Amino acid sequence: MLKFAAFKFSPLFGIITAVRVAIFPTLLAIRKDPTLLFRPNDISAVFMAHVWAGGFAEGTDTMGRPAKEQLITPNSEGVVLDIGAGHGHTIQYLNRSRVTRYVALEPNQLMHPKIRAAAHAAGFYESDGSFTILSCGAEDSASILKGLENTQADTIISVLTLCTIPNPSKSIHNLVRDVLKPNGQFLFYEHVLSHLPDVAWWQKFWAPVWQVAFDGCRLDRPTHLVFENLEVEIQGGNDGYRQDGRDSPWKEQQVWGMPDEPEEDLFWHRAGRFVKK
Ligand SMILES: C[S@@+](CC[C@H](N)C(=O)[O-])C[C@H]1O[C@@H](n2cnc3c(N)ncnc32)[C@H](O)[C@@H]1O
Ligand SMILES: *[C@@H]1O[C@H](CO)[C@@H](O)[C@H](O)[C@H]1NC(C)=O
Repeated sequence: MLKFAAFKFSPLFGIITAVRVAIFPTLLAIRKDPTLLFRPNDISAVFMAHVWAGGFAEGTDTMGRPAKEQLITPNSEGVVLDIGAGHGHTIQYLNRSRVTRYVALEPNQLMHPKIRAAAHAAGFYESDGSFTILSCGAEDSASILKGLENTQADTIISVLTLCTIPNPSKSIHNLVRDVLKPNGQFLFYEHVLSHLPDVAWWQKFWAPVWQVAFDGCRLDRPTHLVFENLEVEIQGGNDGYRQDGRDSPWKEQQVWGMPDEPEEDLFWHRAGRFVKK
């Protein structure tokens, strides 16, 4: 019971820490460019870049390491699209001999220098076509396909990004339908809405506050269920799909939890590997 009390308020400690590390650099940025005051989304991006640089990126990566080593390293291959690449922490889990091209999608341009440095350190370069940064959002399939020169991705990875993108169901649907190759894999590691009603209640309670400090990140999204229940519209009914209508795009799917994670944790993570028909 006492333990659950600590979990209930854990988002508050996260928010306090975020404000502590990011408020002064953000105020300085506003003093340098007061027009930011009229662009609240850009203030969020500046704030989040400082939160992420102020220890959150490293801490989150360390916590997720076992899950990422299991999910990303053995499965990622070919053209890899990393949505919400942040500071490029996913790159270190890629096997360079199996990944031909790493495409980082990151709308927050303040994060691009760190992505580029991590990509170069791992042997991915813009000059030989093995590395690209896209500045669009994950919901913008048209710009993504253009950035991929109209090829599709063999692997799409989301690490803690589907909590933040607008309209996740529609964005995931469009990425799977338009951007992911047949037989391609969608790999995700995300915090999701709990299946326990009291934990879910606290996640919903904190979600609106958390969202302000963390650039739109929601604590209450059932992302794993979006994948399980996903349907795409079909014409023809070949490649393992039903006849015309709507059908699941998946031929294989696995979702698993973290062995050391208590059920009371408001940051309740699921990893998933979904393979397209
Ligand atoms: C919590 S961070 C995770 C970063 C990185 N994947 C990692 O594991 O360190 C979420 C990232 O999603 C990015 N983001 C925000 N809106 C987005 C959108 N519409 N499409 C894609 N990424 C977005 C943010 O800029 C941020 O870098
Ligand atoms: C990387 O991929 C190569 C080729 O498939 C394989 O031989 C090697 O063991 C892999 N390395 C790791 C760390 O998984």
